[in-house]
Amino acid sequence: MPAEAMVEIAPATASMALARALSDAAAAVEQALDALLPRPEGPEARLFESMRYSALGGGKRMRAFLVLESARQFGVARQAALRVAAAIEMIHAYSLVHDDLPAMDNDALRRGKPTNHIAFDEATAILAGDALQCHAFTVLSEEETHPDPAVRIELVRAISRAAGPRGMCGGQMLDMLAERAAAPLDEAAIGRLQLLKTGKLIEVSAEAGAILGKAAPSQRHALAAYGRDVGAAFQIADDILDATASAEEAGKATGKDAGAGKATLVGLLGVDRARLQAERLIAQAKAHLDGFGERADLLRALADFTIARRH
Ligand code: IPE
Ligand code: IPE
Ligand code: MG
Ligand code: MG
Ligand code: MG
Repeated sequence: MPAEAMVEIAPATASMALARALSDAAAAVEQALDALLPRPEGPEARLFESMRYSALGGGKRMRAFLVLESARQFGVARQAALRVAAAIEMIHAYSLVHDDLPAMDNDALRRGKPTNHIAFDEATAILAGDALQCHAFTVLSEEETHPDPAVRIELVRAISRAAGPRGMCGGQMLDMLAERAAAPLDEAAIGRLQLLKTGKLIEVSAEAGAILGKAAPSQRHALAAYGRDVGAAFQIADDILDATASAEEAGKATGKDAGAGKATLVGLLGVDRARLQAERLIAQAKAHLDGFGERADLLRALADFTIARRH
C-alpha cells in the first residue's frame, strides 16, 4: 500500500474505533446511572424524576469515557470503573442543571431538550442538582466501588476537590464575576478560570482510573496532566462552538457568550487563534501519554476528538 493511503486510513480507523468505544461507554454508563439513581416512586418522586431527567439519556459521556479508559490501563474491574464514571457524570449533570438556571447562564435548551428548570421548576432544579452531587459521593463511598477504603477516600477527596471551591465552583464564580468585570480578563486569567470551571473535573476523570488501579505516582501524574490539557482544550472548543455552531448541532443555545460578556479565549483572540491554542494543548496532552503504549491509543484519539467535535 502506498504511504499516502496508509496515512489516510490510519486516522479514519482511529476515529471509527473511538466512535465505537465512545458509544459503548455511553451505553454502559447509562445503564449504571439508571441502576444507581433512585426510582421515581414515593412522595418525593418529583425530585427523583428531575435527577433522572438531567442525568440520563444524553451527553457525550466524555468524562465517563476518560474514567473507563484510564481504568483500563491498569486492568481495573469494569463494574468498579463504571460506578466512578457514573458518579462523575452525576456531578457533571448537576453542574449543567445549575449552570442553566436563570441566575447563571439562563438557558432553556440542554442536550436537545428543555433545561431542567423549564421542564420542572427552579426549586426542583436546584434540589435535583444538589441531590445529584450528594448521590455521587454516596456511590463513591460504597464498598462496591473498591474493596479498599483508602482508595474510596482518595476518590472522594480528589473528586470533591475538583468539583469544589478550588475547582469547578470556584471557576463558575470567576465566570460569573467576569460578566460584570470593569476590564476584560487577560489570557492568563481566562486560562485559570477555565482550568477551574471545566479542567479540574476532566483532569480528575482521567486520574480516577489511576486511583482505582493503585497506579504508580508517575502514571497517575501523567494521566492527570493529560486530563488537564484535554480539559483546557475542551473549554476552548466549547467556546468556539458557541461562536460557530448552530443550536441544532450543539443541542444547546449558541451565539450567547459574547453578548453575555463571558470571558473566553475566543473573545480575546478570535476563533482562529483560539483554535491554534487548543491544538497546542492537545499535542501537549498526547505527549503526556508517551510512557503508555498502544493501550492508550483511544485516549490519544479522544484528545483529537475534543477539538474536532461539532457538539
Ligand atoms: C458542557 O460539557 C459543559 C462544559 C464544561 C463546556 P459537555 O460538552 O461535556 O456536555 P455533555 O455532557 O456532552 O452534554
Ligand atoms: C459550563 O461552561 C461549565 C460548567 C462547569 C457547567 P458553559 O456555561 O460554557 O457550558 P455550556 O456552554 O452552558 O454547556
Ligand atoms: Mg456557564
Ligand atoms: Mg452555560
Ligand atoms: Mg459554553
